[in-house]
Amino acid sequence: MSHLIAPSVLSANFANLQADIEMINNSEADWFHVDVMDGVFVPNISFGFPVIKSIQKFAKKPLDVHLMIVNPDQYAQAFKDVGAEILTVHIEACPHLHRSVQNIKNLGMKAGVAINPHTSINLLEDTISDIDLICLMSVNPGFGGQKFIENTYEKVKKLKTLIQQKNSKALIEIDGGVDLNNYQKLIDCGANVLVAGNTVFSSKNPSETIKMLKK
Ligand code: DX5
Ligand code: ZN
Repeated sequence: MSHLIAPSVLSANFANLQADIEMINNSEADWFHVDVMDGVFVPNISFGFPVIKSIQKFAKKPLDVHLMIVNPDQYAQAFKDVGAEILTVHIEACPHLHRSVQNIKNLGMKAGVAINPHTSINLLEDTISDIDLICLMSVNPGFGGQKFIENTYEKVKKLKTLIQQKNSKALIEIDGGVDLNNYQKLIDCGANVLVAGNTVFSSKNPSETIKMLKK
């Protein structure tokens, strides 16, 4: 499988979101990456259901919803209702991760688990066969446009090995600081999905940048 590109809507123009959604629709991007921040789990607040519902109205590609919130179980159904196809929760926000993952799957979505830069991938050992996507945070979550953490390459390789050992089908997604200088190395290490916010939306030609990340 060739790798997937998921532009992060967090860096889009919220005064004209429809234009950026159409750009993604007409580009080589595969998913919409939708970052939800609650101001508690992370030191920032992004957007909630009305905005996601509006994105869903125009988006022609799957919504990959990344929850940076506490108590994600409480809202899983509501995210399903506004169009999430993949719902990712943070391992650091889930004291009962197995239950959270099953809950998402029972609601008919793909289950993702995000892990912060300080969290060891070994904590996924016992749930990895149930998980559809693992989102490796390559920055501390909360903001777009941060610097990529170099230790991520090692983590991708270790995670790939764990996935193979456990016969898991989980995809590896990299989130934060992905750019045209590091994307190829991430793919070579075993990444399957690359999230890109700043790199896409601050470029002169976003759809051309997506095309380059897709190569
Ligand atoms: C960070 C978010 C990311 C962010 C990535 O907390 O989870 O998805 O939008 O943005 P860039 O690509 O600009 O680092
Ligand atoms: Zn994200």
